[in-house]
Amino acid sequence: TYQPVPEDKFSFGLWTVGWQGKDPFGDPTRAALDPVETVQRLAELGAYGVSFHDDDLIPFGSTDAERESHIKRFRQALDAAGMKVPAATTNLFTHPVFKDGAFTANDRDIRRYAIRKVIRNIDLAVELGAETYVAWGGREGAESGGAKDVRDALDRMKEAFDLLGEYVTEQGYNLRFAIEPKPNEPRGDILLPTVGHALAFIERLERPELFGVNPEVGHEQMAGLNFPHGIAQALWAGKLYHIDLNGQNGIKYDQDLRFGVGDVRAAFWLVDLLESAGYSGPKVFDFKPPRTEDFDGVWESAAGCMRNYLILRERSAAFRADPDVQQALLDARLDQLAKPTAADGLAGLLADKGAFEEFDVDAAAGRGMAFERLDQLAMDHLLGAR
Ligand code: GCO
Ligand code: MN
Ligand code: MN
Ligand code: MN
Repeated sequence: TYQPVPEDKFSFGLWTVGWQGKDPFGDPTRAALDPVETVQRLAELGAYGVSFHDDDLIPFGSTDAERESHIKRFRQALDAAGMKVPAATTNLFTHPVFKDGAFTANDRDIRRYAIRKVIRNIDLAVELGAETYVAWGGREGAESGGAKDVRDALDRMKEAFDLLGEYVTEQGYNLRFAIEPKPNEPRGDILLPTVGHALAFIERLERPELFGVNPEVGHEQMAGLNFPHGIAQALWAGKLYHIDLNGQNGIKYDQDLRFGVGDVRAAFWLVDLLESAGYSGPKVFDFKPPRTEDFDGVWESAAGCMRNYLILRERSAAFRADPDVQQALLDARLDQLAKPTAADGLAGLLADKGAFEEFDVDAAAGRGMAFERLDQLAMDHLLGAR
């Protein structure tokens, strides 16, 4: 019946259902949501947790006393509902001070302020039990070529993450960072635009083991990329520390639609991959209920994210269990791909006349791959025709 349970580890950002519908062209269409109500409603729907930006929970500019009272109410709501905080993050993009970025702002004082803002919220995140800290650098970028020396900016980005890694290590926190790529919006071009850029960057850090990625479905699709392929590479690198699930229709502005909308085939292969790889981290819905919706529509949209995941999980399991699919996978030689190319080593490969001198290139070229049958079986399962 597709009823989510906490074991599914579905989580939502406070800012998702809490989005008031303000966009570049229009005013908010919904009132602000109290985080306490969000926690209660999401728990009723079967979610496992919530995550937050510092400013979602504690309005920017709050006094220390106000801050404490917001935290107290939130903690009470979490305990009452049995909800977890698997991850948290920092708002380094709304306030005008971040108009040219945070870790890579040209102004040094703004960079120092940004790192301190993150550290303050890391302490809170750990207090609330978070084990992952998300870093989305939405304002780290530029609209024009001369405005940003990208190599210097990457040095500053590395410096910021190295300081944060040093801080959590010194504090003895059990916290890892998940860097979230996005190609553009709100900046014309954002640094670390894709999963691949982020993975390469992480290897340059002082403590790479503390850093992984937080890929978002729509962000890779905004760049025209294959999301499941990006996730597979992150898994292969041992770097899938977090994931933001949502929907996007092709290369256009960041739609943040509910999960399952948009490229439903990519969503199917994504769920198939996460389930078969045994991904055990939180599955976080980072979406925005369209501004056409009232609060009934907001909760409908949140429930739909989880429902679509569970439907796709069932479809993927049926696909994998189907004997016709198992035969089709053999016909497509996936079993051969799983075997090393030269278990006999370089010497064996060089000595093997069958590998080159006597290799029948034309016969090999003539073999069909049988991928279309396999893909149609997937379509049949995805569409519920088998
Ligand atoms: C986006 C981003 C953001 C971040 C979130 C965490 O849609 O551009 O996903 O939603 O994930 O704000 O900082
Ligand atoms: Mn997005
Ligand atoms: Mn996101
Ligand atoms: Mn988002």
